[in-house]
Amino acid sequence: MILFSVLPIFSREYIPLEKWKFHFGEYSHATSENCEDSSWEDVVVPHDWAINKPFDMRIDMQSVQVLEDGDKAPKMRTGRTGALPAFGVGYYRTYIDAQDSMKGKRISIEFDGAMSFSKIYLNGQYVGEWPYGYSSFAFDITDKWNYEGTNVLAVRLENKPESSRWYPGGGIYRNVRLVITDPVSVSHWGTYVTTPKVSSKSVSVNIQTGVDNKTGKEVEVRLESLLMDAEGQLVKKVSSSTKVKGERYTFEQTLSVKSPVLWELDHPYLYRLVTNVYADSRLRDTYITPVGLRSIRFDKDKGFFLNGRHVKLKGVCLHHDLGPIGVAVNTRAIERQLQMMQEMGCNAIRTAHNPPTPELLDLCDRMGLLVQVEAFDEWKIGKNQNGYNRLFEKWAERDLQAMIRRDRNHPSVIMWSIGNEVREQKDENGAAVARMLTTICHREDPTRPVTAGFNNHNDAIKNGLANEVDLVGFNYKPFDYKKKHKQYPDFVIYGSETVSTVSTRGEYKFPVKEKRGACYEDYQVSSYDLEYPSWACTPDTEFAQQDDCDFVMGEFVWTGFDYLGEPTPYNEGTPARSSYFGIVDLAGLKKDRYYLYKSKWSDKPVLHLLPHWNWEERLGQQVPVFCYTNYPKAELFVNGKSMGVKQKNRNSVYERYRLMWNNVVYEPGEIKVVAYGDDGKVAETQTIKTAGCTYKIRATVDRDTILADGKDLAFVTVEILDKQGNLCPKADNLLFFDVEGNVSLKAVCNGDPTDQTSFSSTYMRAFNGKLLVILQSKQAGIGKLKIFGANLESVVQRICIIDD
Ligand code: GAL
Repeated sequence: MILFSVLPIFSREYIPLEKWKFHFGEYSHATSENCEDSSWEDVVVPHDWAINKPFDMRIDMQSVQVLEDGDKAPKMRTGRTGALPAFGVGYYRTYIDAQDSMKGKRISIEFDGAMSFSKIYLNGQYVGEWPYGYSSFAFDITDKWNYEGTNVLAVRLENKPESSRWYPGGGIYRNVRLVITDPVSVSHWGTYVTTPKVSSKSVSVNIQTGVDNKTGKEVEVRLESLLMDAEGQLVKKVSSSTKVKGERYTFEQTLSVKSPVLWELDHPYLYRLVTNVYADSRLRDTYITPVGLRSIRFDKDKGFFLNGRHVKLKGVCLHHDLGPIGVAVNTRAIERQLQMMQEMGCNAIRTAHNPPTPELLDLCDRMGLLVQVEAFDEWKIGKNQNGYNRLFEKWAERDLQAMIRRDRNHPSVIMWSIGNEVREQKDENGAAVARMLTTICHREDPTRPVTAGFNNHNDAIKNGLANEVDLVGFNYKPFDYKKKHKQYPDFVIYGSETVSTVSTRGEYKFPVKEKRGACYEDYQVSSYDLEYPSWACTPDTEFAQQDDCDFVMGEFVWTGFDYLGEPTPYNEGTPARSSYFGIVDLAGLKKDRYYLYKSKWSDKPVLHLLPHWNWEERLGQQVPVFCYTNYPKAELFVNGKSMGVKQKNRNSVYERYRLMWNNVVYEPGEIKVVAYGDDGKVAETQTIKTAGCTYKIRATVDRDTILADGKDLAFVTVEILDKQGNLCPKADNLLFFDVEGNVSLKAVCNGDPTDQTSFSSTYMRAFNGKLLVILQSKQAGIGKLKIFGANLESVVQRICIIDD
């Protein structure tokens, strides 16, 4: 066995490009070598140019007919893209000094994504462009690089109005780096590792490695591939040599691993493939690829199998914004979202509706989450005037190829989606376009199936489109699973997008009943989880079909988190600027629905009572009480009086998944639920008390020690309590935030979709008793957040910032 530490040091270098100058709006000669940019703003990339700006409901206001929402004529839509200034032109410039060590090396610039229509210039010379804001791309800039002095890299970006159905963000919102390599090195996204045979005893591994030879002459190349385990011990090694004449050569190697540790959801074990490239006997490059050994199988009658074991997909769709942080990639913010989803019992993510940032997939690999990576929301027939339809002809193949080549080594990725609700479902050429895209996917990665999400599933079946994908995704069709399975027994079916229940954290509307398209004067919706738009349903309706149809592979709920934009049902001239669909609100505070999913998806005990118990205005009137739980039965007490025992009832849509006491009459005091286990004994209780006047503030931080890397975040949940410590469920006090020491105030958010206070404000109203403050680390030391408000006992949250 060889220890990882004795391996040769890396010979490629990655230089992150974080410090840039930024200018919003046109600027003459902004991309030239000598542009005067000293007055430009200093920014740190990843950067979202719009997120900290004031909301303005006129931004990207549009008159548009959204066919998918059932609009019969164009409507005036507001808040559709988040009411933030993401649209327009922006320039970025950065200066990079050449180093002696770069001499004789190749230089490339690698973008994980830039929003959008990026045009790249080096030292005043045009390098290249990539319009789709969600694609990763790289350019070789060796021929324009100044090896003797300073290099100026300039980027022009442009977001066109009416180009998106959600908040796209603006700017260089993902990481960018310079990559310095030897002329003989692993090519861009050059490794492709697959596991054609997987068993508990052994795994055979195929390795394809592209090696670039930019020497202009023939070289003898030896490629050494070392598979290391998680501790850095060598597991297997394979070596091949050949003379390489041309600019690229692709090596094919195989190895087999005995007694493998497979990549499992509860034990996502990662090996590392270390690729060493030797040319003329000298080590030229070392390249690392994380590898998970696993098999995937999709069965039309039984669903999805990971390593031969059945897994029902309990998935959520996620848009790319991180709530009040916007779209600027932050690994901790993504990790927090995924942790919350996983704690809920979720095991799969759909990257709706675009290629994700690579950090998301790295996290899913490490955390044991399955991923559907999606490419497009539009093909040739647009949904937005300036949407992807304008790029499709020229760029679809390049974007799809970039997505798959970048992501095909991730064990978490189990399928590629070529489109969401594309309008080609109703078009006679739809099948031909799908065939073209599926062929590209199969060419780039024959190991994973191709899918698409169909809202017009009957049309997509009729025009042959559904036949062109390997997995048939239904958007919002729970009632049709059985019928379609019978009619089309070869289809592998799943809910590519489900539910779309709307709710506002902490809001409860009366009378409590299932409502389609409900709207209220306060622009909120009810958290009894019974309201949804015309095409959607409640979680329970989908659960029932998932439970009753073993052949359905699972579901991806719309959505895990609220997101900026698409404020259905208040998207027509209201102050609403973010969604109501989330299981969790925009701040990352859990709605009641979180516990409904957790009670269904997780194997941990769940007992959650709703609503709150402050109903002064409903004295003597009914206030139904629901309990989301996975205990079989429970008893409700109001001020000590039993309201009866309820148990799950398979024959009722709602009582199958919730316990409901519909006839409770409100009186102040307390409600208490007592859950009984299978043995009939008391297993757990929960009490909610009528809260008194607002009195004090409570701060709870997710982690009180964070890293001094200038990126790490502490998420502080702020609650307004009465003197006894009960949450005041309607409190909307204005709170103020002061930071001191080694943290900065990153963002504040209260989860109210209509709040117009900027996320970068130092004050904000609490919403239904809560809000969230996000702090970012500076250098090592202590940071403090003071939260105060009129007539409230204030609080100080202390954060420790440490070096790695
Ligand atoms: C779907 C669409 C999503 C979102 C959702 C809201 O039709 O695919 O992007 O718009 O509806 O319910």
